[in-house]
Amino acid sequence: MSTALATAAPSFDLATVRAAFPALRQEVHPGKPLVYLDSAATALKPQPVLDATMDAYAKDVANVHRAVHALSQRATARYEGARDTVRDFLGAAAREEIVFVRGASEALNLVASSWGGANLSEGDEILLTELEHHSNIVPWQLVAERTGARVVHVPITDAGEVTLEAFEAKLSAKTKVCAFAHISNSLGTVLPVQAMAERAHAAGAIVVVDGAQGVVHGAVDVRALGVDFYAFSGHKLYGPTGIGVLYGRQELLEAMPPWQGGGDMIDRVTLDAGSTWNDLPYKFEAGTPNIAGAIGLGAAIEWLSALGLDHVAAHEAEVLAYGHARLAEIPGLTLVGSAPRKASVLAFTLEGIHPSDAGTILDAEGVAIRTGHHCAQPVMDHFGVTGTARASLGVHNGTDDIDALVQGLERVRAFFG
Ligand code: ALA
Repeated sequence: MSTALATAAPSFDLATVRAAFPALRQEVHPGKPLVYLDSAATALKPQPVLDATMDAYAKDVANVHRAVHALSQRATARYEGARDTVRDFLGAAAREEIVFVRGASEALNLVASSWGGANLSEGDEILLTELEHHSNIVPWQLVAERTGARVVHVPITDAGEVTLEAFEAKLSAKTKVCAFAHISNSLGTVLPVQAMAERAHAAGAIVVVDGAQGVVHGAVDVRALGVDFYAFSGHKLYGPTGIGVLYGRQELLEAMPPWQGGGDMIDRVTLDAGSTWNDLPYKFEAGTPNIAGAIGLGAAIEWLSALGLDHVAAHEAEVLAYGHARLAEIPGLTLVGSAPRKASVLAFTLEGIHPSDAGTILDAEGVAIRTGHHCAQPVMDHFGVTGTARASLGVHNGTDDIDALVQGLERVRAFFG
């Protein structure tokens, strides 16, 4: 078991944190060191994650659960050790509840397809919110088409909030599943997950949370939140790409049909009498998994947990507040998303300037942000824009990064002035 999880550091030292990221030791253009403000798209990788992933390929390279030789035993132990690390990180009751998948999108597709396909029918409602990422909209639209269920959404306020009143107004006896983000990737809004879960359960619905951003910016305890499913991606949590996690309550996962067929997810296969399924979580892990990815994810969680998620959250909140104050000084800049509970995201538009032009000029200054609809077109529709410029914070950002952003935005304005 991860000792790092149990021994969180008592303080947060930004210089030490930054030193862990090799990507920060580069100039992206001559004389322009990298200022990375795109962690919501994907996070930079600290050295321990790179080492663990490389080591898995260099030394313990073997398939898992399949052979008696030493390399396979070691690879299996490390892969399953990573599962225990995730279980502890999420506060899950059992390792059987932790399914390794490709990412949050795959996790949400798994739930929509397997749980939704088995449990939804005509007249049922799937309740989403207006601020969801496309990954938490489209899988539900697909299963709605298959089953005859209807997708309903909770509108957001002009600050980008989901209020409990608006949520309750859409809940009814027809609601079978509520699926919503923990933290919005396009606005930074933190949703009141625990209160929403209580209300959803009281209405008889299950709760699916897209935690792709939520798991990165503060401690998550799935049992304290009271959710049934929680999905996240490794690459936004300072881990490798191509690995993610679906947490699901054991009782629900047990009752769900497999999603994909293949090796490892079976108990017995016959040509004439069909097949039976492996125990959890393997029933949902068909084929050779992303072994090195899971090991790298375990290392990422141990690294972040050793910093202390509460310290990380407090540091990021300070930088975010500084960012709000500095951006407010820029003429013609409109912040998109001003919910009182926010994390990581500074999204904005600039009067008369296309977001991608702003992004290109910022890039020339070494400042990396994302521009566009951020895979959340309904949010853009709500605010009447086709896209925004979005700076998103990670654990390595400081107020100096915000200063670099503001200086870059002054150049953007001068260029178009
Ligand atoms: N979902 C990722 C983002 O917000 C890709 O940028």
